[in-house]
Amino acid sequence: MAIKHFLQFSDFTLDEYEYVIARARIIKQKFKNYEPHPTLADRTLVMVFEKNSTRTRLSFEAGMHQMGGAAIYLNTRDSQLGRGEPVEDAAQVMSRMCDVIMIRTFGQEIIERFAKHSRVPVINGLTNEHHPCQVLADVFTYIEHRGSIAGKTVAWVGDANNMLYSWLQAAQVFGFHVNVSTPEGYPIDQSLVAPDNDRYTFFANPSDACQDADLVTTDVWTSMGFEEENAARLKAFDGWIVDAAKMKRARPDALFMHCLPAHRGEEVAAEVIDGPQSVVWDEAENRLHVQKALLEYLVLGRLS
Ligand code: CP
Ligand code: NVA
Repeated sequence: MAIKHFLQFSDFTLDEYEYVIARARIIKQKFKNYEPHPTLADRTLVMVFEKNSTRTRLSFEAGMHQMGGAAIYLNTRDSQLGRGEPVEDAAQVMSRMCDVIMIRTFGQEIIERFAKHSRVPVINGLTNEHHPCQVLADVFTYIEHRGSIAGKTVAWVGDANNMLYSWLQAAQVFGFHVNVSTPEGYPIDQSLVAPDNDRYTFFANPSDACQDADLVTTDVWTSMGFEEENAARLKAFDGWIVDAAKMKRARPDALFMHCLPAHRGEEVAAEVIDGPQSVVWDEAENRLHVQKALLEYLVLGRLS
């Protein structure tokens, strides 16, 4: 049987997400009650980081410990990956010593090549093109606060980056709509959007994108790996800050999300991220709970 990987959001069906989210609820409740949940006892996760991380490393590592397993951290700097060992060889070796692998890297093709040569499931912990674990946590957070996300409107105000492409895939799976506004010169890369994806609308004006939205979300203007473009981006994105005026265009009960880390005064105003509509801390915490459910599903399959 083919190994199940989680390389982009479209890799799972709605039915699979419904299962994973139901498990995440159970796992979260047990965590809150200090009840053990050792379903991954004696299992090992290898985590490969080619870019920095706080939340992704912490949530995967803590999650494996909490499920009775172990997590091993590798980075490019002090593993042979940084000295040019082929990704295919690394995949062969690593996947003989563990039960599941999480990778944060640059191009999506790197993780695709790795997965092809892996004997165990591979999880995308962020690539230049996708960040599916984060959007899974975000969808879970929305559902916890407001119920079903089907039929709702999500406003994306900012860069056409990995988070946006995962949101666009999630919209197709869960049946919601994304109002996208990116500045001139930073258009949606159509090669990263399914040709039949009719779940989004582009707005030249970022405030218009927020009109009647149920959720407003954004991310940094300069993603990891694009640091040399920072000065040009600061200029180009002028006006794309999510501030109180933009939140006013959204529905009165709209939520605000940001995957973090955030830059107050750039993509989001302090009054919004630190304000009453913001659920960014729940969103960060939920990485832990949904990823525990994801790990369990990939390693053990359905348990209930
Ligand atoms: N949101 C997120 O993935 O955070 P880290 O870069 O800290 O892992
Ligand atoms: N778009 C950001 C997300 C960080 C979690 C980046 O890729 O750097």
